[in-house]
Amino acid sequence: MPKTILVLNGPNLNMLGKREPGIYGVKTLADIEADCRAEAERLGFDIDFRQSNMEGDLVTWIQEAPDMAAGLIINPAGYGHTSIAIHDALRLLSIPIAEVHLSNIHAREEFRHKTMVAPVATGVICGFGPIGYILAIQALAARL
Ligand code: DQA
Repeated sequence: MPKTILVLNGPNLNMLGKREPGIYGVKTLADIEADCRAEAERLGFDIDFRQSNMEGDLVTWIQEAPDMAAGLIINPAGYGHTSIAIHDALRLLSIPIAEVHLSNIHAREEFRHKTMVAPVATGVICGFGPIGYILAIQALAARL
């Protein structure tokens, strides 16, 4: 049975395509999901791709990850800058974790420079747009 990579997306990422396209591009989250599925399949993995605007959903899904996934990709969106709860949930995991941001958070407003996820992630990819998800799949696949 192929191993699963869980891909979690935080708040407002359901609006991709309409949301500040100059910053986040024109692809929808469904487009990104399709690209992730194709790349995962090419590398022999399954993708479980989810999005929520609720912090608690993300926390619950992170808690469930060890039972169903070999690796985790998370774009925590705005919660990445604020959520101790997501940070704490990620600390429970021993599977590899890739943090992804579409935009280069370090080249934007100062409040985006810090992420609560980075200290508990295996690695961080930001600034490459949707390709960041593909790079993260490749990085996790190489590690797994
Ligand atoms: C984001 C960057 C965050 O600062 C922002 O709040 C988002 C999207 C990104 O993918 O670039 O919602 O995570």
